[in-house]
Amino acid sequence: MNLTEKETLLEQANRYITENKAKVVADYRHHYHVMAPIGWINDPNGFVFYKGEYHLFYQYYPYDSNWGPMHWGHVKSKDLLHWEDLPIALAPDQDYDKSGCFSGSAIEKDGHLYLMYTGHVEENGVVYQRQCIAVSEDGIHFEKSDQNPVIGEKLLGEHGSIHDFRDPKVFRHGDTYFSVVATKSAADHGKILLFSSKDLIEWSFYSVMLEGNDSQGIMWECPDFFRLDGKDVLIMSPIQIPKRGHEFHNISSTIAYIGTMDWSTGKFQVENDHEIDGGLDFYAPQTLEDDQGRRIMIAWMQMWDRTRPPHDLGHNWSGAMTLPRQLHVKNQCLTQVPVSFVYENMVNEKELHHLVLKDDPYCLTQDLGDNVVIELEADFSDGASLAIQVAKNEMAALKIIYNKAKQLLTISRENVGHLICGNEEPQLVARSMDVRLIDGKLKLEMFRDTSSLELFVNDKQTMTITFYEIAKGKEVSLHSEGKVVITELKMSHLTV
Ligand code: FRU
Repeated sequence: MNLTEKETLLEQANRYITENKAKVVADYRHHYHVMAPIGWINDPNGFVFYKGEYHLFYQYYPYDSNWGPMHWGHVKSKDLLHWEDLPIALAPDQDYDKSGCFSGSAIEKDGHLYLMYTGHVEENGVVYQRQCIAVSEDGIHFEKSDQNPVIGEKLLGEHGSIHDFRDPKVFRHGDTYFSVVATKSAADHGKILLFSSKDLIEWSFYSVMLEGNDSQGIMWECPDFFRLDGKDVLIMSPIQIPKRGHEFHNISSTIAYIGTMDWSTGKFQVENDHEIDGGLDFYAPQTLEDDQGRRIMIAWMQMWDRTRPPHDLGHNWSGAMTLPRQLHVKNQCLTQVPVSFVYENMVNEKELHHLVLKDDPYCLTQDLGDNVVIELEADFSDGASLAIQVAKNEMAALKIIYNKAKQLLTISRENVGHLICGNEEPQLVARSMDVRLIDGKLKLEMFRDTSSLELFVNDKQTMTITFYEIAKGKEVSLHSEGKVVITELKMSHLTV
């Protein structure tokens, strides 16, 4: 597409969207998950509560359903369910970000909205990454600082590599702004650096907050740092972190480090860690704190380096965000529940109390809708297991299986719709997660949107997957081996 006279890259991108968004094929488009109007999206960026609304930006390439030079797409919402598309916020239009405006974050200062992002430059096959600032008065139109890049080689010094130096997450601690930024050590380990500033423009190096080892992956992307329930939490997205039991089976993973920050040394003391989501499609989570003090997380509901049916089928889009989740820290673990807004938008379709399953299947519905939510509690007799088959047709179903003896929850998209496979990994159609019953019970909340399923388990753990059906499966059925009592079950749909 050619630039018309005097049109900026940003104007060009916005015009392209307006002129082409009707070309998107709706088949697999979601109803309440954030997607771009057309084209490719990856990481959530700049997730922030600003002037009474939730703003979310995202890594965006409007011109193709493949990754390309990154722009920042933008949406906002009052309830994290109904989203309004806004014009693109950033385009790669400066020397210091000419190959892409990479991931970053947002913060309010004196009523203005500041974005901090990575200026990505590729010259003769060599990558340089430096941190930059853009400011807005209205939360929609952004001006890049003429001090950019605000953190480059000089401040990075010997602490990391300028070729892998990205994804600043800015936050305030006391009267100072801080930013955690990911980089790589000489030994090819992840490293999180901390920088500080009084005005978001002039920065100083503060500390090496955390450095990885061989068992923690070759690069850490998209760090986020916050204090919650009396603990300090560092989340990030490691590349090629080795498997640990059932954890970290995807090519790129996410991890939460729970611990204590020593502000006098700038070092983070890790006390516990665990994978954030046990599914197949979850990456680069980012959090905000809203006016009610809620810590809310959203992630890219997709995985790097796998086939993506909406792209392969020429549907002109690729990627979506997860349902926003509210976080807490309990027993040194990060817990996730759906944001409370979802419960205000649910219409109940069916309720059951005390359904005894003993080897015979039970058909819950043969008319499964796109926006269905199923909440249930199950009581297991010894050795029993429960399989929930969702979107079932003659060919296949999504399967959610809990095995009490193994204390294992498995989610599988085997044979469901278009094949999703990776370049660098064996084909992964299912994942399992260690799940302990609570007082002998399993609590599941299942959110289905057109081509995704998110499971919330025991008000704590999650599993997220996407799936692209060829023929829509309309049935949900429950199967047990041994005796399982469904003490409560509620099927609803989200009205969005
Ligand atoms: C993570 C990531 C970031 C980078 C961005 C580029 O998914 O690789 O590290 O800033 O995507 O789009």
